[in-house]
Amino acid sequence: MSNKGLIMDKIINKKAAGEKIVVLTAYDYAMAVLADKAGVDILMVGDSVGMVFAGHQSTIPVSMQDMIYHTQAVSRAAEKAVVVADLPFGSYHISMEQAVENALLLIQEGGADVVKLECNWQTLPILQRLTALGIPVMGHIGLLPQTAALFGGYRVQGKDEASAMALVDIAVAIEEAGAFSLVLECVTSEAAKVIGEKIDIPTIGIGAGAFCDGQVLVSYDLLGLTQGRIPHFAKKYANLSAEISRAFTEYIDDVKSGRFPSASHSFAMDEDEARKL
Ligand code: KIV
Repeated sequence: MSNKGLIMDKIINKKAAGEKIVVLTAYDYAMAVLADKAGVDILMVGDSVGMVFAGHQSTIPVSMQDMIYHTQAVSRAAEKAVVVADLPFGSYHISMEQAVENALLLIQEGGADVVKLECNWQTLPILQRLTALGIPVMGHIGLLPQTAALFGGYRVQGKDEASAMALVDIAVAIEEAGAFSLVLECVTSEAAKVIGEKIDIPTIGIGAGAFCDGQVLVSYDLLGLTQGRIPHFAKKYANLSAEISRAFTEYIDDVKSGRFPSASHSFAMDEDEARKL
C-alpha cells in the first residue's frame, strides 16, 4: 500500500477543505492507467463490471473471482489513485467470517486499498466488523443495485421527508461504524445535502446532485462505450463507440481490399537471402 495511507488521508481532508473528490470506475489496466494519469482520486472497481464489461443484466452474477481479476488489473495501474473494490453479491451473505475473508482477498490478492459494501441495517454489522479489523470500507446507500430487484427496482431514493431521514439515519450509523467515505446512488439533491451536512466523512455521489463531496461516474458511460441506454444522471464526454466502430469498419475494408498489411506493417528478409528462396 506504500503511501496510499497518506493519499487516503488527503481524500478524507478534501471534504473539510471544500475540494471535490473525483472518482471513476475502472475495470482494466489500460483504462486505469489513463484515469490515474489524468488525476482521478479514486479508481473504483465496481461490480458494475458485470453489466458494462461482461454484458450481464444486473450485478448479481459477479463473483469474487471476477472482482479479484479486475481489481488486480486496476491496482497494477494505480500509481496515485486509491483503489476501491466492491464486495460482490454473495461474498458477505453467509457469515461474518466469509465477509472478512473476501474483504481480505480483495485487498491482499486484488491489491485494493479499500472495499465497498452496499449498506442497509442488516449489512451494517459487517461494515463495523471490517473497520474494527483495520479494513478500510466505503459504504454505499441510496439505490443499491445488488438488491434493487427485491426492493422496488432502480428508483430515485429520498423523495420525501421520511425516506430522506431514513437515509440520514443510516449514513450517520455508517460513519459511526468507521467507514472511510460513503457513496450516495440515485438520491435526491436535497437528501444528499442533508446527509453531507450530518456526517464528516466524504459523500461520493452518482445521480445524487451537486452537494456531494465528490462524484463518481461509470467510465463506460462517460466515454460513450456503454452499449444501450445510459442513466439520466450520466454525462457523456466522448463517443468512443462511434470511433471504435469506424476503426473496425476501416480495418475490415483494408483487409478485404488488400490495403492491410502494407510493406510498412510486414517483416522483410535481407535481399540476398530473399533471392536464394
Ligand atoms: O458498481 C459500481 O460501479 C458502483 C458505482 C457506480 C458507485 O457501485
